[in-house]
Amino acid sequence: MPQPFDPARLRRDFPLLSTRVNGRPLIYLDNAATTQKPRHVIDAISNYYKRSNANVHRGAHSLSSQATQQFEAVRQQLADWIGARSAREIIWTRGTTEAINLVAQSYLRPRLHEGDRILLMESAHHANIVPWQLVAEACNAQIDVLPTPEGEVDFELYRTLLARAPKLVALSHVSNALGSCFPVAAMSAEAKRAGACVLIDGAQALPHFDISLNRLACDFYAFSGHKLFGPTGIGALWGREALLASMPPWQGGGEMIEEVSFSGTRFAGLPFRFEAGTPDIAGVIGLGAAIQYLQAQDRSLLAAHEESLLKYALECCESVPGFRALPAGSERVSLFSFQIDDQHPQDIALWLDRRGIAVRAGHHCAMPLMRALQVPGTVRASFAFYNTLAEAEQLASALDQLVQEQRSQILTAHPIDIVTQVQAVYDARDWDSRYRALMQLGSTLPPLPEPLRQDSHRLHGCESRVWLITDMDEDGRLNCRADADARILRALLALLLDAVNGRTPQEVLADDLPARIAALDLQRHLSPSRGNGLNAMIKALLDYARNSA
Ligand SMILES: Cc1ncc(COP(=O)(O)O)c(C=O)c1O
Repeated sequence: MPQPFDPARLRRDFPLLSTRVNGRPLIYLDNAATTQKPRHVIDAISNYYKRSNANVHRGAHSLSSQATQQFEAVRQQLADWIGARSAREIIWTRGTTEAINLVAQSYLRPRLHEGDRILLMESAHHANIVPWQLVAEACNAQIDVLPTPEGEVDFELYRTLLARAPKLVALSHVSNALGSCFPVAAMSAEAKRAGACVLIDGAQALPHFDISLNRLACDFYAFSGHKLFGPTGIGALWGREALLASMPPWQGGGEMIEEVSFSGTRFAGLPFRFEAGTPDIAGVIGLGAAIQYLQAQDRSLLAAHEESLLKYALECCESVPGFRALPAGSERVSLFSFQIDDQHPQDIALWLDRRGIAVRAGHHCAMPLMRALQVPGTVRASFAFYNTLAEAEQLASALDQLVQEQRSQILTAHPIDIVTQVQAVYDARDWDSRYRALMQLGSTLPPLPEPLRQDSHRLHGCESRVWLITDMDEDGRLNCRADADARILRALLALLLDAVNGRTPQEVLADDLPARIAALDLQRHLSPSRGNGLNAMIKALLDYARNSA
């Protein structure tokens, strides 16, 4: 096993990494969703509240000056770190999403006319799609999309799209779903030559490497603090000063004005005109601590470690039968998306979670990319410098166990009737046995014939595909059928159908279905998206009973 870097020293800085989840040591591989925080960040936030808490900018007392000085020092620190010309070019936002919305509404909207074009990337996160769709719709503008098959950019095609003279080109520095690192410096330079304004979504880049704005040649760069080992609720937009100065304020309120009267308001200068209301002072101070933490490391060493983590994890996982990593191109960061034959991503994530391994399953807020790849979703393992090679091995070994267990179940399977299996779920004494009973139940539910798995029967509100056909038999009793593509959801459907079928709508409504399900303690063990899916199924059945009563 290669050992280029020992992350043990840095792991000690992250209190949460030594926690246990479901009785196992946590293996945190969901860093692209949010990273863990070093003690340095946690202490900075806590110290701010203990020692310097006061509102910034407008106070007439020492504590406020101290808070303002700390707050503004971080703005300068960030400007220096990313190579901005001035701290005036840094606008605090809640994160990448808010930063992109700010540019969409304040920069683009006033300049966008009917028939104008905006160029987006197919692999973009929804945060770098939807804000542009909103302005495009409001202004009758057109959206063009650059395909990025296998995480690569076809520059010839890109130039063809640039020849349509888009007003704005929105780029992703690193794809959160695939880990592909796009050549944004070259893309940005071409877009500028074509006369477009360029925004880069850097949410997944800064956590892996430093950037230098003067090499990127873009106009706006957005990122989130929480993916960068800093707190949630804070992020930043960098923008060229001349552009920011030409933009109207986006939100109105305190902090962003110079003078207000009922005959008119004079707005503050940069950056304050874009920061209405009391800002997230503690968040900014925590972000400053995160940047300081990263600056104290040799980031090239961290990056080399992440690269070996990625390589080793892929090598180990490739020996798992049916494992398939999605291609991510030649330049990539330490994350990969994968599928395993005959296993739904939600079921894989649930299996890993029981072993203390945190990953993300689903469309990763990149539905257009999933559609282009023709996959309903993937499992994503995303690594940070504090992950270890041993953790990468444990991921692969847990996946291998999943496949082996499935195979042995198929070999030893004997038909079990659904009633017995439902009872086994209710009788289970702990989550481990209940999980096994649920998975068995998931295989026992008869599948819906393919022609019935159609959109009109899709139940919305579930991240996986769920079909529900509500019906009544001739005696006026519910006779519903359902199916899903994830085994865990098939199990939940089987439980619900068992609770409602064969009963009249009045009987269903008299029985407290949510309480009956709540007694199984499923919500505590299911992810929020599966929990929401369960609630959507219960609601659909109760609505049907109510409408038929
Ligand atoms: C590439 C990318 N862009 C934008 C976002 C949105 O970030 P936030 O939710 O912090 O605003 C994310 C979050 O996952 C992301 O990965």
